[in-house]
Amino acid sequence: MTSQEIRQKFLDYFKSKEHLIVPSAPIVLKDDPTLMFSNSGMTQFKDFFLGYKTPTAPRIADTQKCLRVSGKHNDLDDVGRDTYHHTMFEMLGNWSFGDYFKKDAIAFAWELLTEVYGIPKENLYVTIFEGDASENLERDQAAYDYWKAVISEDRIINGNKKDNFWEMGASGPCGPCSEIHVDLRTPEEKAKVSGLELVNNDHPQVVEVWNLVFMEFNRKADGSLEKLPAQHVDTGMGFERLCMALQGKSSNYDTDVFTPLIAKVEELSGKKYTGILEDEKDIAIRVIVDHIRAVSFAIADGQLPSNGGAGYVIRRILRRGISYSYRFLDMKEPFLYKLVAVLKDQMGSVFHELEKQGKLVTDVIKSEEESFLRTIETGLIRVDKLIQQTIANNSKVLPTQEVFELYDTYGFPDDLTRIIAEEKGLTIDEKGFEVALNEQKLRSKADSAQKVYDWVTLEEGEENFVGYDQIEAETHITRYRKVENKDGEFYQVVLSNSPFYPEGGGQVGDKGVLENATESFEVLETKKENGLIISLINGLPKDASAIFYAKADATDRKNSQANHSVTHLLHEALRDVLGTHVEQKGSYVGPEYLRFDFSHFNKMTEEELALVEEKVNAKIKESIALQEFRNIPIQEAIDKGAMALFGEKYGDSVRMIQFGSSKELCGGTHVKNTSEIGHFKLTSESSAAAGIRRIEAISGDKSDEYFKNLEKQVLELSQLLKSKDVVRSIEKLIEENASLKAEVEAFKKEKAKGEIGDWKGAYEQKGDKLLLVKKTSLDSGSVKDIVFQLKKEIPTSITIILSDADGKPMITVGVSDDLAGIYQAGALIKELAKEIQGGGGGNPGFATAGGKNLDGLENAYQKALNI
Ligand code: SER
Repeated sequence: MTSQEIRQKFLDYFKSKEHLIVPSAPIVLKDDPTLMFSNSGMTQFKDFFLGYKTPTAPRIADTQKCLRVSGKHNDLDDVGRDTYHHTMFEMLGNWSFGDYFKKDAIAFAWELLTEVYGIPKENLYVTIFEGDASENLERDQAAYDYWKAVISEDRIINGNKKDNFWEMGASGPCGPCSEIHVDLRTPEEKAKVSGLELVNNDHPQVVEVWNLVFMEFNRKADGSLEKLPAQHVDTGMGFERLCMALQGKSSNYDTDVFTPLIAKVEELSGKKYTGILEDEKDIAIRVIVDHIRAVSFAIADGQLPSNGGAGYVIRRILRRGISYSYRFLDMKEPFLYKLVAVLKDQMGSVFHELEKQGKLVTDVIKSEEESFLRTIETGLIRVDKLIQQTIANNSKVLPTQEVFELYDTYGFPDDLTRIIAEEKGLTIDEKGFEVALNEQKLRSKADSAQKVYDWVTLEEGEENFVGYDQIEAETHITRYRKVENKDGEFYQVVLSNSPFYPEGGGQVGDKGVLENATESFEVLETKKENGLIISLINGLPKDASAIFYAKADATDRKNSQANHSVTHLLHEALRDVLGTHVEQKGSYVGPEYLRFDFSHFNKMTEEELALVEEKVNAKIKESIALQEFRNIPIQEAIDKGAMALFGEKYGDSVRMIQFGSSKELCGGTHVKNTSEIGHFKLTSESSAAAGIRRIEAISGDKSDEYFKNLEKQVLELSQLLKSKDVVRSIEKLIEENASLKAEVEAFKKEKAKGEIGDWKGAYEQKGDKLLLVKKTSLDSGSVKDIVFQLKKEIPTSITIILSDADGKPMITVGVSDDLAGIYQAGALIKELAKEIQGGGGGNPGFATAGGKNLDGLENAYQKALNI
């Protein structure tokens, strides 16, 4: 069975059991401050489990792209060193939201594994939760009883809280789980040691394939458990491990999920993969074929590598891959980007984003590779210097501070420093390095640290966002919780009716006030978390259940929505002018300005920019009315021609924003008519990343201000120039200035000519040669000319001129040709320049040096006289 068939069979099976098949959510999460990436299939359904939102269907199944590289579930360090952990992996899952529970979940899993996939029953073991006294949780007898019906009791194993109580993170939905493990060893091996002993023991051939979680609880921030409003099922099956089991392999890397990638690495590197666990070359190959998947999927979902947040995690994964290939495969040139095409061929038909974004993914990876390889090269030079220094100091240990700086400031991999040092018989101070690393971690943690308390729920149920139609609303608080950070104590509130737009789709969240007759609070920001709209306020009302009036800041909102609507017009104009390869890759829409990142490979020309600006302004002038379609089926919107973005999570019903021919799926707030936008003005165009351009622009009040300022400046200029035609006047000034400059130059030359005669007569005989040492205030250009001429005209001479024109010390030395080889102008200047704290150089016959210390000229003069 190919991996494609295995995936399809899973989806078909659950479809036949009345599950709605949904697409994978993006791998990068946008509206969950507690989590950066989807780390399991259930992430996208968190708000269903918590009861904040109504599930789209009672039964759902899918394959989800997951990434476990940060937070509670982090497998990064294991990847490559074993045969079954991955950064990015697919999780096949089926869900019941308050529908079936343990009985059906167990029956479905068993039927699929043993009958559809045909895994022999004697290869399977299952675990159940043994209970936990400290949490007051009982043994999962129900699960035990359901398993007993299909599998012999000696294959049911009790598991502790660590293995059999699944939690998504430090807080959130959780519950006891039951895992299915498969024993892939040969009959001989099985005869020696029973599989029972190897379950949950990190044996590479006795692995967990499927985890059935019975969600019943919510772990609160204070650590306690509360019952969820309903019982749910969340299952997750490791797709790559399932392929290993069904394809009769002993490593995930030997399945057809990875073999095409491995073959390509072999071809490009000329190194053979032998599948050995400890072999460094094999580890490197496993690391590469694993990491390329994580990085490619993340970029295809819109997460570019960067210096912070999720982008930094992606950059680090890619750099780990580059570092391994540099060290163990001897690959010193970019090549990982060439694997993207293989991945696209393999998975593009299931994950269309790879197909569509392939070129961008390739270009971004290539440029990251180039820049990190440069980092490695310059780092190697630094390491070399450190090594010389250490040896010169008779030490065996590289200086810790510098080693840490190499890693922290220059991004040079510390393991590379370690290896190179060892090759020279030196070491690094591991303890000191770790201390520095921890201190740094603590510093960055302290900056962002905040303590979030549990929700106090005043009223259950869904809140209502009314901000599309009004910016003020009568409301009351349904939940609140305390937040403490370095700026003090705040409260997050959820409102029954919220006019505050929560940050999302690039648009900033609303600020405003929440007030009633007795109290007033500032709303500092509004965000979305697990489907809840959360506003941050600067205090807690004395009566939290009172009626309040919520008002979003009208001016900010007006300007933000002008910028949002014009972003749509800009997107359309860019596609018109540059082509339909242009796709939105990120945006920021605030009251002050907008930023729009999009795929395009060249710098835009002046003409293209002008045309885009013109087109957008033409649409604004057409006064196009907003057509808003709320809650229409996604297919209907796509059929109408709406643009959807990669990496965005869309539900079944969506909102479409239309301004004439511009149609986008969008959750933001917009003007009612394009005429409200005011003038659109581009302010910059630059590169955001490989293959991605960035435009910044203004509209609304800001562009009014911009033009007013411009007018004011022109007016001031016109008064200053006493002319209405400022351009002509400035042209005239420039012309005048040029002719004055020419006059001055001629004048200087004349003056220098006069000097030259005096200087010629001032040479002194010193031994067998002539020496002129002279101070002057002539400008440096003239001095150079004169010295050059003198060294030619006066044989057997040395000319040293010290000048102080414009308050800058300068020394010029000329040596006549017949003295060349005896005296070096360069060497003389080096000696003299020390006095003026300067540097410079030239050739043996002529040299100049500028300096910082004007007062030093006198010393230089005395030194010169003694030559
Ligand atoms: N949430 C569980 C897991 O990740 C099952 O999907 O293992």
